[in-house]
Amino acid sequence: MRISRRNLMISAAAASAASAFARAAFAELPPLAKKDTYKVGFAQTESNNPWRLAQTKSMQDEAAARGWQLVYTDAAGSAAKQVADVNSMIAQGVDLIFLAPREEKPLIPAIMAAKGAGIPVILLDRNVDQSLAQAGVDYVTFIGSDFIEEGRRVAEWMVTNAGGKSKILQLEGTTGSSPANDRKKGFDDYIAAHPEFVLLASQTGDFARDKGRQVAETLLQAHPDADIIYAHNDEMAIGAISAVEAAGKVAGQDVMILSIDGGKEIVQLIIDGKVAAVCECSPLFGPKAFDTAVAYANGEEIPPKLINPDRFFDASNAAEMLATAY
Ligand code: AHR
Repeated sequence: MRISRRNLMISAAAASAASAFARAAFAELPPLAKKDTYKVGFAQTESNNPWRLAQTKSMQDEAAARGWQLVYTDAAGSAAKQVADVNSMIAQGVDLIFLAPREEKPLIPAIMAAKGAGIPVILLDRNVDQSLAQAGVDYVTFIGSDFIEEGRRVAEWMVTNAGGKSKILQLEGTTGSSPANDRKKGFDDYIAAHPEFVLLASQTGDFARDKGRQVAETLLQAHPDADIIYAHNDEMAIGAISAVEAAGKVAGQDVMILSIDGGKEIVQLIIDGKVAAVCECSPLFGPKAFDTAVAYANGEEIPPKLINPDRFFDASNAAEMLATAY
């Protein structure tokens, strides 16, 4: 068939009108229809630690309890794969996507693609760069902990209880992720007002146990006078204990270990005297995540952030709290 120049111009005009309509239709958040049951996506970042496994189980249990279909993906520690996972959920026509964005910037195109396809997104546990995407405009809301406050609380506990220790090594989480950025900020800002504490070195251990161990070993060799290790999560703190022991030192005596997450293993290590204090970061998102989706479908106003309360564990309460740690 011969396509005339006039027909081509008409098609181009129609395509441009359609794309202008799509932009206009989803300049605001896409709605979620009221239904008895939904097909929703959960795009997980990785499954290499108990925190992630507990978060996934909480989402799967909640979907099963409500009779919703859950499309689950595991990005295996790759932001690029997580973007592809979200695109696959869009192609499968899910009603809504729960997204735990591995890093603050690389997942922005995925959020915008879901929005363009008319699928609302709820961010779980990690946030995105607020200069690039906003709650109430590009995604519905962020549900998670206040990571700056977590870092601040650990620093405050340390300043009060250090007992003469003062030379700190910091093991950061995944570079470019909101918990790594914010837990560092909360901690560093607090100790800036306490010059008797010195941050000797701060390096990423990627939220992973073995990476945390390796980085702690290297840092302890470079700074043998370090007497405090602040890890951005339990996994790296547990790795750091191995590094302290490999250096011939006693965790909990020669080196004070501080962490964030609060799983059963680390709470037991507080009871055992190897870890000093841990700020909780609950991974149990299921009920709140699904309740928020229903509230959104019902047309309720959703705040831009829904902050989870976090407990704090040290020797004074660890035995009592052990049973309720995830
Ligand atoms: O985003 C929360 C952090 O990610 C948790 O502290 C950590 O254990 C997880 O991988």
